[in-house]
Amino acid sequence: MEDYTIAVLGCGVMGTAVTSAILKAKFEPYPSKIICCTNSEKSSTELKSKLDSDVIETSYGSESNNKAVSKADIVILGCKPFMFKDVYEQVKGSLSGDQLIISLLAGTTIEELSIMSPYVAKVMTNTPAQFGCGMAVVSFSDEAESKYSDLVMKLIDPVGKAMKLPEKNMDAATALVGSGPAFCLLIMEALVDGGVRMGLPYAVAKESAAKVMEGTAKMVLETGEHPAALRSKICTPGGTTIGGLLKMEDAGVRGGIARAVEEAANISASFAKKK
Ligand SMILES: NC(=O)c1ccc[n+]([C@@H]2O[C@H](COP(=O)([O-])OP(=O)(O)OC[C@H]3O[C@@H](n4cnc5c(N)ncnc54)[C@H](OP(=O)(O)O)[C@@H]3O)[C@@H](O)[C@H]2O)c1
Repeated sequence: MEDYTIAVLGCGVMGTAVTSAILKAKFEPYPSKIICCTNSEKSSTELKSKLDSDVIETSYGSESNNKAVSKADIVILGCKPFMFKDVYEQVKGSLSGDQLIISLLAGTTIEELSIMSPYVAKVMTNTPAQFGCGMAVVSFSDEAESKYSDLVMKLIDPVGKAMKLPEKNMDAATALVGSGPAFCLLIMEALVDGGVRMGLPYAVAKESAAKVMEGTAKMVLETGEHPAALRSKICTPGGTTIGGLLKMEDAGVRGGIARAVEEAANISASFAKKK
């Protein structure tokens, strides 16, 4: 695909995160235009100043969704999942049947999205994508996999890191990738509380907790080692770390966090069954 246009239908937190990641990245073939569509004029005006680039056009309202889709080679869906049917009704007259659809919607399946086109990529990403350090997993319809897999990975990788994943694993990914930042934030909050309880100023505790989590993640990613192996290197016999870890195990922290991922994945799967 050369000299192509993208229409982003719903450019809120996730639509903006993906669009700004594309704007900061360099790859070929690069989109010649990205039309960012919102529902309200207010969001559209805010978006215009946020995504300041010659490649960007902004518009709002159902008629402009329709116009944007008629010009688009690729449609990125960034609205809420419950809005999908309404948005589809607004734009169905402009769908050519061979556009590439990239969906950021949690829960909505490739089969459901295929009413727009046979070429579908379903992406699950997360809010750190706003800062270029998100994670994304991508599933494809058979038609899209053979024709557009390279292009989709080029478009999505700038959010941080993108990996392919079969659609059957998407509920688990929704829990770990989509909800994961909220689980990490709860752990971070607890680290801050502990520091403050023991007399650290709040600002120092917050900065320290965030840097500890960032650094720990980097250590896992750069060494490729199992978290348990890295953890054992911090535990001096008879020392502070092993004492703290045993308290965490007594409180069931490991099982609690693993079960949180299980619960979120089950809830994601139950949304699909309710439809
Ligand atoms: N937030 C997360 O952590 C997260 C994580 C993983 C996946 N997701 C998925 O990402 C998707 C978007 O979530 P979000 O948090 O980015 O939502 P959001 O911030 O509320 O953004 C929704 C966007 O859709 C626009 N919109 C509403 N109706 C529209 C219409 N008829 N036509 C065009 N645009 C319309 C809104 O415009 P206005 O501002 O004008 O109303 C807004 O720009 C969801 O499907 C969600 O499942 C989110």
